[in-house]
Order: sequence, then C-alpha cells, then structure tokens
Amino acid sequence: MIDLKSIASNKEDLDRYEVENNFQSWSYQPDQSPARVVSAKGVRFTTEDGRQRLDFSSCFVSHNIGHQDPRVVDAICEQARMLTSFAPSMSTKPRAMLVKMLAEITPGDLSRSFISLGGTEANEAAIKICHQYTGKRKIITRYRTYHGGTATSMSLSSGDARSWAQVMGGTEKIQVPQPYCYRCMFGQSYPACELQCVKYVDDVIELEGGGDKVAGIIFEPVTGANGIIVPPAEYFPRLKEVCDKHGVLMIADEVMTGFGRTGRWFAMNHWDVVPDIMTMAKGMTCGYLPLGATIVRKHIGDKFKEQFFSHGATYAGHALGCATAVALIPIYQSDNLVENSQKMGAYLLEKARELQEKHPCVGDVRGLGLFVGLELVKNRKTREPMVPVGGKIRPGMNPKLEVAKKLGELGMMAMAANPGNVIAMAPPLIITKDEIDEGVAIMDQALEVADVYAE
Ligand SMILES: Cc1ncc(COP(=O)(O)O)c(C=O)c1O
Repeated sequence: MIDLKSIASNKEDLDRYEVENNFQSWSYQPDQSPARVVSAKGVRFTTEDGRQRLDFSSCFVSHNIGHQDPRVVDAICEQARMLTSFAPSMSTKPRAMLVKMLAEITPGDLSRSFISLGGTEANEAAIKICHQYTGKRKIITRYRTYHGGTATSMSLSSGDARSWAQVMGGTEKIQVPQPYCYRCMFGQSYPACELQCVKYVDDVIELEGGGDKVAGIIFEPVTGANGIIVPPAEYFPRLKEVCDKHGVLMIADEVMTGFGRTGRWFAMNHWDVVPDIMTMAKGMTCGYLPLGATIVRKHIGDKFKEQFFSHGATYAGHALGCATAVALIPIYQSDNLVENSQKMGAYLLEKARELQEKHPCVGDVRGLGLFVGLELVKNRKTREPMVPVGGKIRPGMNPKLEVAKKLGELGMMAMAANPGNVIAMAPPLIITKDEIDEGVAIMDQALEVADVYAE
C-alpha cells in the first residue's frame, strides 16, 4: 500500500523525484530537475518561481490555439461529466463527429480515420495500413526526419541522431535525401538542379523492384525537428508523379505541420497534392488531451470492407480526446487561426531574416507560416555546421543548447532542443505582432551566445 504521507509535495521532494524516478525524454538523465510549470495562459507560461515566459515553441509545436482556452477546457469538462471513454467497439458521439470533421477539413477524398493517442501511434497505423493495403514491406523514408518514438516510427526517423540507438526490425526501409537546398546531398543548387532529389527517388524505386516491392514513401511536408526544411514548390507535385507512375503510396506525416501551422489547414494544401495516407496529432487537440489520427483516401478505406483491418488499441477513438478536437476545430475557424498563421508567419520570417543579417552564427533562415527556423553555422561561407549531426546525443559542448539556456533566462522558450543546428520559432497561432517583436528581441540577445563560436 502506498504511503501518501511519505510522498510529501514540497519543492525539494518533487525535484528529487524528477531526478531519481522520472525518465527524461531523449537525453542523458539530468542531475537537476527542470523548472516546474504551474500554469499557462495564451502565449505565456509561469514556473514555480513565479516567472512568466513567452512560449515560442507551442510546446513542441502542439499548443496551436494557445494555453488554457476556456472554451476547450469547458468542452473537456462537459464531456468528462458525461462519458470519459468507452470500449472502441462501441460508438461515441465525439468519435463519430470527429471522423466526419476530419474528412471535411483534409484535402481530396481522405475520408476514413483511425483515431489513436499521438503522432507516433498515428504513423505506426499509417505504416501498417500501407503494408496491409499493398502487401509490400519496403517503405522509403528521407534522411533528416523524425516520425516518432516507437520501434517502427523511430527506425523510419532516418538521419535523426536519436534513432541510432534503435534496434531495427519489421519494415524494410530505404533512405533517400531531403529537398534540403541549403545542404543539397547532390551538391547542386536549385533551380538548376532540376530536382535531382525527386529523380533519385524515381531511380531508387525502380532499383528496389518498383511498385511490386515498394509500398510507400513517408515524409514530413515541411521537415520539423530536423531543420524546418521547406521544399521547392515543384517538389511534391513531381514526387506525386513518380509515386503514381510506380503505384507507391504517399504518406504525409502532418503531425507538426497540420492544423494551420504552415498557414494552411495542412501543409500539403500548399502544393495541391493529396497524399494517400495522412497522419496528424499535436494541433488536433493542441495538447489539451493526447490524440492522433491516421486518415486514408476512400479507395484505401473501402478495401478494408473486404480485408481484415489488423490494427487497434484499447483507447482508440478516446471520447474525451475526440471531444477536445471536436471543440477545437471550430475555434480554428471562428478565430481565423490559419489565416493568422499565414500573416504572422510572413512577419516572423521577415524578422528572422533581419536576425540573420545581424548575427554571423545564422547561416540560413527558412519558414512557412508560423514555423520558422534559424540554422546555426560556424562559418557562413563554408556553411560548416555549428555542431555535428550527433551533437544532441553526445555529451559535451553544444552552442545551440547554450542559446536555449539563454532564451530561458531572458524569458522565452523556443524549439532548440531538437537534433541538428536549427532553432525553430513556432509560437501559438494566436500570436500578435507585438508578441512577435518581443520574442524576436529576446532571440536577438540570445544569439549573441552562438556568435562567439562563429568565424
Ligand atoms: C513530424 C512528427 N511526426 C511524429 C511525431 C511524434 O509525435 P508524438 O510525440 O505525438 O508521438 C513528431 C513529434 O514531434 C513529429 O514532429
């Protein structure tokens, strides 16, 4: 029997439990507890010491509508009083409503969804559906990508140093380069390259046995944690031609980019390309409750009327999570959050370019909507990276983490703990111009820490 009295809740005890009893994600286990967050509102959060800071990361790009919106909290409470969850073999009103709403807001004939508990699970379902629909094992993935933390999703997270410790199995994966023009793996420049990165995928599919062997290709429409990589305008239309030619399914991982983050409902809307399978999470419930979804095109969904659908979970279609998303989607619309992301995103990108001019450590600036990255380099001419790819998973000095620390001291959180050399600014989509100015001024000061390492 647990003795609650012995688990006191004073600051020192809680700090000790954090250090001794909790696994901290993606890191050596710290010898100090991180600051404890006690409340959050809109674009700001407050820690136990009473300090308020600006959230320029939307908590790993999830809290798109900002923190503690009373409309969502009320909807959660209302649903919780009625029915928190039920066995997924039965229907609940929130799940039935949500799957219809997802079919409405996603592009083309994406129409049948599997509702899970987060982005990784959504990708696991996508890969399983892709294997089951095609009967094939090979999946193409791109270097410098993150698709999640479980076995298959992590093994597909190619070129993300966090995946190196993973023991592989199951899916047969093939890696191809990203359309990462700042560091083109073909040594070419856009547009003279004529998109070698797409031609390469075409060749790889052929050499791997074409559509008879290759099931699908998974990608982040705008790569998030590995560097805010925005593809050239023709990339996805051309990739679709290649996939259609071979009968290879396109799986768009919109876990970070979905729900207005890039200035459209989904990033694929920018290029008018309808993927065969799309995954989403984060902005769907904005972190108020965990939820993920995998949505497929009609002909794929219909196939499972005759073929057994071999996937499921106890909490699939969790009523409370679904009710959260059902409450949130109309707020995106009524508050014009997607439009604000486009408008404020353009302003943030402009401001980030001003930072690039000022700071020798900033080699490149990229972004789409409120998803803007500053790539840190040692040398702007040679583009020598500030830290090697494995910088995050090796102990030792990492100037980007020093910038993150400085940001915290100055009163802001940005996405700097990700792999690679990019500091991402992804504030909630409710952000105003004044708040962007405030955040950029803090970033301006914090970047001085990394300037010291630049030549
Ligand atoms: C593109 C992408 N896919 C999948 C995931 C995994 O999502 P989750 O952490 O909700 O499992 C993430 C998380 O950051 C992500 O950025």
